[in-house]
Amino acid sequence: RAALAPNEGNASSISELREAAEGCRRCPLWRDATRTVFGEGPDNASVVFVGEQPGDQEDLAGQPFVGPAGKLFDAILDDAGVKRQKIYVTNAVKHFKFEPRGKRRLHSKPNAGEVQACRWWLDRELGLIKPSLVVALGATAAQSLLGKAVPVTKMRGEVMQREDGLRVFITIHPSFILRIREPTDKEAERERFLQDMKLVKRLM
Ligand code: URA
Repeated sequence: RAALAPNEGNASSISELREAAEGCRRCPLWRDATRTVFGEGPDNASVVFVGEQPGDQEDLAGQPFVGPAGKLFDAILDDAGVKRQKIYVTNAVKHFKFEPRGKRRLHSKPNAGEVQACRWWLDRELGLIKPSLVVALGATAAQSLLGKAVPVTKMRGEVMQREDGLRVFITIHPSFILRIREPTDKEAERERFLQDMKLVKRLM
């Protein structure tokens, strides 16, 4: 396995952990990505939201959920009365994985090994923040948080409890809504996600 980044083992705060993650070599994704995109938000947040991995815009900006999926996520959080400044937002995988297609970089799904390697960072984020609830946005986040495949569309809106007591709320990834073309279906899915976020607000 690759060598540890400097201070990787003994970070005692989120900012130290973020700094250590800049040099992460736990999997090969760092090679093509611009930078590590670490979690963002208050280090005493009561709720942590976990996405899949940074996208093109997140990779360039160095912040999670700032691209199209992030904008939709923000709008729906706002509609649900959840303040983004009060939550901690991170990803299961912290480097952008993509396929070059001309000048564009197309999102490519992280594999099980990459998710497993990056779980090291997510575990430490959760250990330092100690949230009362974690929201898994989509299958990759659920897999990372629960250590097994979860049928997200069947389980959405439900809370699963881990052996360590941590409660994990299951829902879809907001990019799923973006991919729906048919306007009525898209609106219906947005509404379902809004209901999930209202439920999260009640559980906060
Ligand atoms: N999708 C994610 O899962 N995470 C981001 O940060 C952006 C898009």
